[in-house]
Amino acid sequence: MHTSPLPPPHPDAAAHSQRLTRAIVQTINEAGGAIPFVKFMEQALYAPGLGYYSAGIRKFGADGDFITAPEISPLFSQCLARQCQQILTDDNRIILEFGAGSGIMAAELLKELERLDCLPSQYLILEISADLQQRQRETLQAQVPQLLERVQWLEHLPSEPLDGIILANEVLDAMPVQRFRLDEQGVSEFYVGLGDSKETPFVWQLLPTRDEALRSAVESLRPILPVGYVSEINFALPAWIQSVAEILASGMVLLIDYGFPSREYFHPQRDQGTLMCHYRHHAHSEPLILVGLQDITAHVNFTAVAEAAHAAGLHVSGYTDQAHFLLASGLPELLSALESSQNYLQQAQQAKTLILPSEMGELFKVMALTRNLELSLLGFAKDERARL
Ligand SMILES: C[S@@+](CC[C@H](N)C(=O)[O-])C[C@H]1O[C@@H](n2cnc3c(N)ncnc32)[C@H](O)[C@@H]1O
Repeated sequence: MHTSPLPPPHPDAAAHSQRLTRAIVQTINEAGGAIPFVKFMEQALYAPGLGYYSAGIRKFGADGDFITAPEISPLFSQCLARQCQQILTDDNRIILEFGAGSGIMAAELLKELERLDCLPSQYLILEISADLQQRQRETLQAQVPQLLERVQWLEHLPSEPLDGIILANEVLDAMPVQRFRLDEQGVSEFYVGLGDSKETPFVWQLLPTRDEALRSAVESLRPILPVGYVSEINFALPAWIQSVAEILASGMVLLIDYGFPSREYFHPQRDQGTLMCHYRHHAHSEPLILVGLQDITAHVNFTAVAEAAHAAGLHVSGYTDQAHFLLASGLPELLSALESSQNYLQQAQQAKTLILPSEMGELFKVMALTRNLELSLLGFAKDERARL
């Protein structure tokens, strides 16, 4: 990841960004001059046809803005396949993936499950970006044409609960969040208003929050946080977990994302929160620029995920970091089977990126939520639920 100045966008990209900017300016004007940041983030990422995830710009991989684990190495999806194999039985045969990105994880996972003779009867993908749906179809057509008939794209959650596996890799971090500051008296919320900068018309405005849920959640953190503390809360998360719980009759939800338990998330030293933007492999923390051209993310509070899961009737069956999950799911064996292959060194290097604590190994966490499943899950030999 570079720390040098951000490269200027291509003229076409800049024109695209201006179209989205105009749409958000209109929303702000209609709202009387400012909108909560959560609304800005939602439009910046998901405005139909214009948002970062909704429009056709290249996001993933070496020539995009960031690289996710399945893009780094097929070993990631191969390990995931081993965890899935443990659960895919004759009665438990459906996989549903949320936010499938470029489609590479679905393709590699299906390839490996075919090799393990353990294919799901259906592989469902729920992707809110029409552009990415198209890209996923192309990836699967190119990589696993023989399995394409098992893959189905959904517009909504399935109407019938399913028996099987629900997967979401780096989906929760892409959900819009509310940003707050703890004040001496009360709680302020970050709004986005209009200024007169040439680069972006958007400016931060700190206003006393009118959102009772935000106020009370932040007030409950007052005993552990210093005044002036800035962070985020994802209030859409409990509803998302609830809707996922409702469609799982039996099986496992596997969530992979970067984040921490609540105590680390709201650590007094993390006093500027966790908002991060990714633009052509530069990471920075200014979401109001490059509108529609950069990813905006917030880390995941896994304690909040566990609480929401519990409230929704799911069992939190495992929580660990990505390194331990992959190591327990067969990474060493998969890698040693490649020792004589031509690109072994490259694959070993990629595996290191997935598991080294200084890379993705420690910051990324894996959480398993289950229903009606009595199994000791393969990937969670080192179980860290006690830290939640
Ligand atoms: C950071 S990307 C991760 C893509 C992919 N899972 C990967 O690991 O490469 C986030 C993905 O989640 C999708 N997404 C975000 N919110 C979603 C939701 N509520 N339902 C389904 N997909 C969602 C985005 O469109 C995008 O495909």
